[in-house]
Formats: sequence, C-alpha cells, structure tokens
Amino acid sequence: MTFNTNPSECYVYITLPGQTLPITAGRFTLTTNRQSVPVGRFIYGKHYLARSDAVPLDPVELKLSTKNYETVALKGVFGSLRDAGPDYWGRRVIERYLGTSQINEMGYLLYSADDRAGALGFGLHQTPPAPRRLFNQTVELEKLQRMADALINDEDPPEDLINKQIEELLLIGTSMGGARPKAVVENQDGLWIAKFNRPDDKWNNASVEHAMLALARACGITSSESRIINISGRDILLVKRFDREKIQDGYLRSRMISALTLLRAEDNYTGRDKWSYILFVEELRRCCSEPKKESLELFKRMCFNALISNIDDHPRNHAIIAKDHHWKLSPAYDLTVSLPVSIERRDLAMICGDYGRFANATNILSQCARFMLEKEQAESIVQNMENQIRSTWYSTARTAGVSERDCEKIKPAFDYPGFRDGYQKLY
Ligand SMILES: Nc1ncnc2c1ncn2[C@@H]1O[C@H](COP(=O)(O)OP(=O)(O)O)[C@@H](O)[C@H]1O
Ligand SMILES: [Mg+2]
Repeated sequence: MTFNTNPSECYVYITLPGQTLPITAGRFTLTTNRQSVPVGRFIYGKHYLARSDAVPLDPVELKLSTKNYETVALKGVFGSLRDAGPDYWGRRVIERYLGTSQINEMGYLLYSADDRAGALGFGLHQTPPAPRRLFNQTVELEKLQRMADALINDEDPPEDLINKQIEELLLIGTSMGGARPKAVVENQDGLWIAKFNRPDDKWNNASVEHAMLALARACGITSSESRIINISGRDILLVKRFDREKIQDGYLRSRMISALTLLRAEDNYTGRDKWSYILFVEELRRCCSEPKKESLELFKRMCFNALISNIDDHPRNHAIIAKDHHWKLSPAYDLTVSLPVSIERRDLAMICGDYGRFANATNILSQCARFMLEKEQAESIVQNMENQIRSTWYSTARTAGVSERDCEKIKPAFDYPGFRDGYQKLY
C-alpha cells in the first residue's frame, strides 16, 4: 500500500466530554502560498456547530464560529492540532515505518496512532472510523524497549522482532510528544506512557524522573502518577495518562493544549521571547475556571523547577486540560534535573521574573503579584519549598529507587548557590 506522505486535507475529530466515541468537528487544509509558506485553514462543520454540546478545540485560537480560520504560524498547523501530533521521537518512528522523511505536518498527524494526547483525532474520511482499541499491554514492554533501542542506534530491528506487526506496535504511542523514546501501554487501570532509558543517559532517568514527580507532590504540586517497572534488568518509567479515564465502554478523553499554544509562541528559538511564566499565568487567569488556584500552582512549579535545576521546563512541558468545559493546569510531567555548567547562574527555559530566565529566588518573587500572591505569601512558599527540597530530595530519591551513585551525580542540581546569591551580583 502506498501512502500519500504529503496530504493537504483531513478531517478533525473530537471525543466530546462524557463520550467515548469521536465525532467530526471540522476540516483542516494545509497548502502553500505563492511565497511557498505553509498556510493552514480550519473550518468547523455545520453539524458540529449546531450541536448543543459542541466545545471549541482550544480556548484561544479556534473558538466555536463559522469563521474560516487561517494561520501561517507553526508551519500552518494550528497549535491545538499540533499538540495532538507527534514530536521528535514519534516522527522518527513514523519515518522509519514509512521509509521516508519527506512527510508534511499533516502527514505526521495522520500517520500517528490515535492514542494521541487530548481529545482530537484526524482522518481522511468525513465520518471518523471506529476506535481501534488496540493498545500495547504492559507485557509487551520488553519487545518495545528492544525496538526503541534499535531505533536509537539506527540498527535493524532485532531478528526475532523483524516483522511489521511489531513496528506497528511501536507506532502506537508515536503521537505523544517529546524527544525521549516512549510508548503507550495499557493495563487494568488505564493508559500509561512508558518512558525508556537510553543507553547513553548519564543516570537512570526513569528513576530520577519518578523521584522528581514524587518530590513535587511532597511540595504540594499536583504531579502525574508514576511507577517504575523493571524489565530484563532495566527500569522503565510508567506515567499514568491524565488525559484519559477508563470507563466501562472505553476511554473518556480530556482536551489538552500545551502552554506553547496558549502563548501563541513558536517552537524554535526565535519564538523564545514569548516563553514566559509571566505571560503564561496571564493566559491561565483568562481561560481557567479557578484563576487563583491555577496561578498559585504555576508559581509553585516555577519555583520547584528552579530548585531542582529543571532547565527543560519549556512550554511543551506545561499543558492545560479540560475534562468538561473547565480548563485547568494538567498535572505536572516531565520533571527532570540537569547539571548546567555554571554553579552561579542557571536559567530556566521560560522567563520567570524581572531578570529574565534566571533561576533565582529574588527573580521569581519579583512578579509574584501576577500570580495573585502577596509578597509575604510568595516568600514563604519559596522558603518552605527550598527547605523541603534541600532536606528531603535525597531520601525521596532513594525511596524512589535512585541509586547511591546516581544521587551523587545529581546532587549539584539541588545544591545551587545562585538560587539565593546571584541576584545582587548582576547589578
Ligand atoms: N501523564 C501524562 N498524561 C497525558 N499526556 C502526557 C503525560 N505526560 C506527558 N504527556 C504528553 O506527552 C508529551 C511527552 O511526554 P514527556 O514526558 O514530556 O516526554 P519527553 O521527556 O520525551 O519530553 C508531553 O509533551 C505531553 O504532551
Ligand atoms: Mg517533554
């Protein structure tokens, strides 16, 4: 069968709140203009707009309307659609599967599996196909891990797995974003994202991420549920999907968009001026049902990221979700430590105060009013979290299964003098 890897038109499906089956929401076309710039267009279907239970695809860009929406941002793919598509890892699997990297943005949306983040789906037919309910089960993790290894090393798949079926299994999960190797698996509790360690990782990422999700929870942050599973001597992190809820006849799906979409920012460095917690909290206050609660939560996450040296806190690692009509921050995910070379000055990926991205207490506190916090309240949050992380990161990490050796390696992430000291030196 030959695939059209550069499609120009598809339908967008949505699973409405409380439902388990998708319906058609509208049509998306992707063409190029005379300057060869990709132009995306989206229009809601008349039947969809006529429904009393219709919801917009996102709270900012594609409001329910008969308008013919048009965009040239993000290579012509509206943010909410792009958020439902694959990223570096998923794209790599699809390219391998199709044997080409000449695939346009819509091609990636169509060829990734329908276990994508959020409530949207894509297809060539006006009526959505029945959901395939084909999920990898946790017992298949061993095979999936070996397939992922082969892909990372640019090797052929292991001999015993060399059949298309297994590659197809790996395709399931490609629609989840992110760069790390991963797959989506199901067990009796629901769906999980399995994140595999890479042979070239500096430490056991699975256990460290598991520990950071636990540490965040202990700091009063709502974080994703996770567990570690050991397969053939290797740890795999399982993160429970917060955008799916298993019920008797299938899965309820929440709409989900990234902070990148909410900020109307580009994914590359030229769009970085909009990568900002301050702008993010303004948007949250506008679109969420409980602005005060969400602002406080975001303030805590920003502070937490500074205290664990998580400099990978870019806008795709933040999202908002809506199970029904109300948008809120998703549970925190992808919390990782890093070891920047500088011990004096570390920068978050997003602007966090008057002095830009500087991961420093004074900087973080400088814009606390935008987070609807009084100065004293904000100061005590920062102080308490600093005390808690400094005194408990190690025991939390050990309990989560991080080895003594890895704790020694990641220690400098929590022991960062610039968090308190650096600010005065800059003036
Ligand atoms: N628990 C979760 N439930 C639903 N979606 C998630 C969850 N965790 C992550 N995601 C989505 O999957 C993407 C990839 O996950 P992430 O942990 O960020 O992987 P990576 O380390 O490769 O960046 C995220 O950008 C987000 O859209
Ligand atoms: Mg990520």
